Amino acid sequence: MAATSFQLNTGKAIPALGLGTWQSKPGEVKSAVSYALQNGYTLVDCAYCYGNEAEVGEGLAEAFAAGVRRDDVFVMTKAWASYNTRIEQCLDKSLRALGVDYVDMYLIHWPLLLNPNGNDDKFPTLPDGSRDIIRDWKHTEAWKQMEALLATGKVRGIGVSNYSKNYLEELLASCTVVPAVNQIENHPSLPQQEIVDLCRAQNIHVVAYSPLGSTGSPLFSAAPVVAIAEKRGVSAATVLLSYHVARGSTVLAKSVTPARISTNAVIVKLDDEDMAQLRAYSDDLTAKGELKRYVYPPFGIDFGFPDKS
Ligand SMILES: NC(=O)c1ccc[n+]([C@@H]2O[C@H](COP(=O)([O-])OP(=O)(O)OC[C@H]3O[C@@H](n4cnc5c(N)ncnc54)[C@H](OP(=O)(O)O)[C@@H]3O)[C@@H](O)[C@H]2O)c1
Repeated sequence: MAATSFQLNTGKAIPALGLGTWQSKPGEVKSAVSYALQNGYTLVDCAYCYGNEAEVGEGLAEAFAAGVRRDDVFVMTKAWASYNTRIEQCLDKSLRALGVDYVDMYLIHWPLLLNPNGNDDKFPTLPDGSRDIIRDWKHTEAWKQMEALLATGKVRGIGVSNYSKNYLEELLASCTVVPAVNQIENHPSLPQQEIVDLCRAQNIHVVAYSPLGSTGSPLFSAAPVVAIAEKRGVSAATVLLSYHVARGSTVLAKSVTPARISTNAVIVKLDDEDMAQLRAYSDDLTAKGELKRYVYPPFGIDFGFPDKS
């Protein structure tokens, strides 16, 4: 087992591995959360936008009733983009749904503002069907609200998600509190090294999402992943998850399947040769312009990611 936790710039620890809950369906996510927490996981990643926090809360409650201590669980959730002008309201909704009185980490989910007075709570649209986005809004305004949350006792740490190097630099130029976390899509087909390097230099902890390539885990068949899994006698999932821990990042894996949740908890120490092989794969995709981003909501906004700008 490689590192089980990392130190945040808040002085607190964050587990190296977490359970993801995006697209975890009703009737599935309660048992997934409860099973994971009773089988070695200590971090659950949630979001208001996922629409399943009440059932995640049932899973937390079941695990607590079975003896898991609240203090031993790292709960991370996110303010949705239609709430970026009223962040505490979104946090209160999540706390109520999750059945907890604080979260360990609260993030800005995406740095844009969807119309808070639009025709839908989460995904407002214009009459032509396109996203209803307020364009003359600065993401740094949302961060001021995040900073104010620290005094409420409802959050133990604050961070961002889906922040490119450009966006992070803008935030760092105006913030009072440096984000503790940047949660980004990350895997050998999207190494995002420029963001990882900036985060490391600024003591911002990277949390990697979609490590398996998201729905259907397409990255299992990547050649170096297959080769390293065979060499080490571990699953492809273990290689893909351990890659992040070797890079000093936390990794989130989603599954609602107990056997997979257990498989994914196996993290091994990848050595320099393994990491060089995975880096060569990333470099090759970069050179060929074939990096793969699996999660990119159609907001029509340039968030400053080189592969999408
Ligand atoms: N901040 C953001 O904007 C953002 C965006 C995306 C994701 N996230 C977070 O990151 C988490 C993880 O990312 P993700 O959900 O996109 O994808 P992921 O964890 O890369 O992949 C999940 C998929 O892989 C399958 N799977 C999991 N373990 C497996 C195993 N051992 N063998 C075979 N298949 C396996 C799952 O199926 P089953 O569930 O059916 O087992 C599911 O289809 C999310 O759940 C969410 O918490 C955050």
